[in-house]
Amino acid sequence: MSKEHGTPVDRVSLVEVGPRDGLQNEPRLLSLAQRLLLINRLAESGLQRIEVGAFVSPKRVPQMADSAELFEALPRKGATRYGALVPNLQGLQAAIQARVDEIGLFTACSDGFTRANIGISVEESLVSFAPLVAEARRLGIKVRGYLSTVIACPYDGPTRPKRVAALAERLLDLGCHEISLGDTIGVGTPGTVAPMLDAVLHEVPAGRLAVHFHDTYGQGLANLLPALERGIRTIDCSVAGLGGCPYAPGASGNVASEEVVYLLHGLGMSTGVNLDKLAATGQWVSEQLGRPNGSRVGQALHARAREQQPGLDEIAQGECHDP
Ligand code: HMG
Ligand code: MG
Repeated sequence: MSKEHGTPVDRVSLVEVGPRDGLQNEPRLLSLAQRLLLINRLAESGLQRIEVGAFVSPKRVPQMADSAELFEALPRKGATRYGALVPNLQGLQAAIQARVDEIGLFTACSDGFTRANIGISVEESLVSFAPLVAEARRLGIKVRGYLSTVIACPYDGPTRPKRVAALAERLLDLGCHEISLGDTIGVGTPGTVAPMLDAVLHEVPAGRLAVHFHDTYGQGLANLLPALERGIRTIDCSVAGLGGCPYAPGASGNVASEEVVYLLHGLGMSTGVNLDKLAATGQWVSEQLGRPNGSRVGQALHARAREQQPGLDEIAQGECHDP
């Protein structure tokens, strides 16, 4: 907990996944220069953890091709940590070469999704991860473990909370510093998310967990509340609500970063993010992609900026001005 103006401030760490989870599902490919500008603008808005790309097969996810060139071009100044997804040894070697700060290994609670996504079963994926984690840690690279389909799988149906808990514990035991719990198809509500979190928290402390909610059914923000109530302070989010997974049919983007920042500041929590800068970036990237801005907060701030009304951060924080 940090202190601002003498008041203890509850700090939440945001993991911006827009440049990876967001762009991997967009039909229009951004150029390397556009991706670089996006990442730089996100860092300038105050985001300190940014998932930049993925060292996966470019035949399977063409949007993430050139991730190595992107890392090469990053400015690497300041405290920002740049991460990337890694599916196998080939990906790890590329990530090491690219001097990635953090890798994300990814598996799921269901075989149906895991096979569609990376071509192997959940069990096979965990076995394959062990040497990757060991090698990354030997080199001082942090390893995040993604666990998808924590509520339901598009192929296998609902997931039992106890299965999520057991797999999260295995990822932790493998040596992941953090487990990101993914509602990949965004079907959860607080009614299903809360019991899932309770089961996981029996095995993994809140400080080692992150939540990764896709917003397909508009429940992403609501689902953050049970996570926050249970002490989870790491949240994945995507600027302008970009995203989805090409191997999770029907899934839309992550909960929008702008919405998350607005909510957290409204709750009196700190993120270190400048909401106006972030929203301007969300509007910009939406225009580059030729799609509507997927963040309601982003849309509202864009409209205010056009009308030259004052910034919204102070309203989010409930600051009143005496007449
Ligand atoms: P594969 O095709 O199943 O089998 O790939 P393979 O291992 O035989 O490889 C075939 C070809 O891919 C070969 O090339 C390999 O060299 C190449 P070819 O001989 O045909 O020219 N290859 C690679 N190329 C670059 N980097 C690599 C690599 N590995 C093999 N690392 C693989 C297996 C896992 C690579 C493939 O299935 C793949 O790339 N899948 C894409 C997975 C993906 O990126 N999914 C989206 C991200 S996950 C997600 O969004 C969920 C998350 O957000 C959390 C949530 O929302 O729940 C994280
Ligand atoms: Mg995702």
